[in-house]
Amino acid sequence: MNLFDVYPLFDINIVKGDGCHVYDDKGSEYLDLYGGHAVISVGHAHPKYVKAISEQVAKLGFYSNSVINTLQRDLAEKLGKACGYDDYSLFLVNSGAEANENALKLASFHNGRKKVLSFKKSFHGRTSAAVKVTDIPKYVAPVNEGLEVVFVELNDIEAVRSELRKGDFSSVIIEGIQGIGGIQMPNAQFMKDLREVCTETKTVLILDEIQSGYGRSGKFFAHQHFGIKADVITVAKGIANGFPMSGVLISPEFTPVYGQLGTTFGGNHLGCAAAIAVLDIMAEENLVENAAKVGDFLIAELKKFDGIKEVRGTGLMIGLEFENPIKEIRTKLLFEQKVFTGVAGLNTIRLLPPLCLTMDDAKEFLTRLKKCL
Ligand SMILES: Cc1ncc(COP(=O)(O)O)c(C=O)c1O
Repeated sequence: MNLFDVYPLFDINIVKGDGCHVYDDKGSEYLDLYGGHAVISVGHAHPKYVKAISEQVAKLGFYSNSVINTLQRDLAEKLGKACGYDDYSLFLVNSGAEANENALKLASFHNGRKKVLSFKKSFHGRTSAAVKVTDIPKYVAPVNEGLEVVFVELNDIEAVRSELRKGDFSSVIIEGIQGIGGIQMPNAQFMKDLREVCTETKTVLILDEIQSGYGRSGKFFAHQHFGIKADVITVAKGIANGFPMSGVLISPEFTPVYGQLGTTFGGNHLGCAAAIAVLDIMAEENLVENAAKVGDFLIAELKKFDGIKEVRGTGLMIGLEFENPIKEIRTKLLFEQKVFTGVAGLNTIRLLPPLCLTMDDAKEFLTRLKKCL
C-alpha cells in the first residue's frame, strides 16, 4: 500500500531529536525553529517527559472514559492554575480541529443558534465545522458546506458589531494570533471591543489558542496580552509535546449534559501523563518567560535585518514577511544552513521553535539566516 500523497515532502528523514535540535538518518544535525509545526513545547526527548510517558505506558496506556481517570483531574487542575482559568472546566480530545469542532458545537448547544462569525485569513482545522470557519475555500468539500459562516476582516470592529447585533450568531471564533494567515496580530482595542459585543449579544467568544497558546506568545494564552477573557478556549499542538491531544476550556456559564460531547481516545492515560509532564517542565524551566525573553531578542534583532519587509509576532511566534517569495531562502536555510522553519503563504517565514530555545540557539539562527539573505 502507498501513502495517500497529500504532503509535499522534503527529502529528509528525521529520526532523532534533542532539545531544539533534530537529526536525520545520515547523522546531520538541524536547528529546529519550526518545532514540528509549533508542536514541540518543552523540547525534543526531554528526559522528564520521556520518563513520564514510559512509566505510564508500562502501567496503563489507555482505558475508556466510562471510568474515573485521576490523571485527567490532575491535568485539569494544573492547567487551570498555569493559565489562570482555574474556574473553567476541561474537555479533552485528540486534535486541534476536533477541539474547535467541539467548541463550536458546545456554543450552539448553549444558545441554540446556528451562525458563526470568523475572520479573513483564519485557519481552524480541516474537519466539518472547523474547516467551514477556515478562510481557505479550497479546503472546504461539498459535505462541509452546511454551516452558515460570515467572514470579516481581522480588527474591523464595525463589521463585527453590525453582524453580531443581528442577534443570530452562536459564536465568534478567532485565533489568539493568526498563524497560517501569516502571524497576523489582532489589536488590543479590537479584542476588548470584541469581548464587549459578544457579551452584549450573548454570542459565545471562542479563542482558538491551538497555535498561539501554551506559552508560545510569551504569555500562557495570546489573548492574555489584551486583558480579556474568552468563554471557550481551544488548545492542542504544544499541550503534550507531540503526543496527539487537545482540549476545550469551558466557562462555568456552560452546563455539561451527558452524551452531548464524547470521544473514545480523548483524555487517555498516556496523553494525560504527557500533558502533565509538559506543564511540570514548563513551570520548572520557566518556559513561558523564556519564550517572552528569547522572542523579544529575536524580534528586535530581526527588525535590524536588511531585506525583511516586516517582522510580526510576539514571543516565539514570529513571522518574517519578504517582498518576494521565500522558497529559495527557506530551501537554503534547510539544506545549506540546516535550519528548519515554517512558512505562511508565499512570502512569509514562520518561526515556531520549542519554547526552550536558548539565547545561544537564537544567535546561531540569526547568523545562519544572515548567510541566506
Ligand atoms: C490555529 C489553529 N487551529 C486549528 C488547527 C488544527 O489543528 P490540527 O491540525 O491538530 O487539527 C491548527 C493547526 O495548524 C491551527 O494552527
